[in-house]
Amino acid sequence: MENNSAHQKIPNLEVRPLEDEKELEDMYYQRWLVLRSPLGMERGTERDKHDQSAFHVVAVSNGRVIGSARLRELSPELGSIAYVAVLPEFHHQGIGTKLIQTLIAKARENNLKRLRVMTRLNALGFYQRLGFLATGATFDYLDIPHQFMELNLPSSLHIQGDWQPALYSDRD
Ligand SMILES: CC(C)(COP(=O)(O)OP(=O)(O)OC[C@H]1O[C@@H](n2cnc3c(N)ncnc32)[C@H](O)[C@@H]1OP(=O)(O)O)[C@@H](O)C(=O)NCCC(=O)NCCS
Repeated sequence: MENNSAHQKIPNLEVRPLEDEKELEDMYYQRWLVLRSPLGMERGTERDKHDQSAFHVVAVSNGRVIGSARLRELSPELGSIAYVAVLPEFHHQGIGTKLIQTLIAKARENNLKRLRVMTRLNALGFYQRLGFLATGATFDYLDIPHQFMELNLPSSLHIQGDWQPALYSDRD
């Protein structure tokens, strides 16, 4: 059961790259709270060997990490988004969207052509809204149904005339 507070103003909200080691530890804890603790999994299960070299974005309110997400490069063209997590009491206030938009901007800056995410099936709509498309069949991970989704990142260079690529295909 979510405890979201839809119209609450989030004080001193910043969505930005991770700043230091202390914040990295805070982020791991926040990630664990959202993605691992509800599954009865121990501290430590929320991190992996790619974290030290990945790009992390955090949402911080009054110094507290309330949301986070990670981008890493699987190849010069393909990026992987993972560990997207917002504390339940801050859901549905645009934080998840801001996290992904920040990662998309970083991916474009690094000239990536595509982004991939392995999402829990119940968050499919969140990524669809951002323009991601499902690829392949659903599968179980941690006993939860998951789905790979991808977003193409058309280059904004060499565009003639008025046409601009739609970064988000399904936004109103
Ligand atoms: C998925 C998640 C990151 C979304 O974060 P958020 O800050 O609530 O997202 P936003 O407020 O930016 O959502 C924007 C829109 O996306 C859609 N959306 C958000 N969460 C959704 C979900 N779980 N399922 C389907 N659509 C969703 C809604 O249309 C929402 O608009 P609304 O608030 O007007 O309904 C958050 O629910 C979360 O951390 N969930 C638990 C962990 C998880 O599932 N992570 C992702 C896959 S591993």
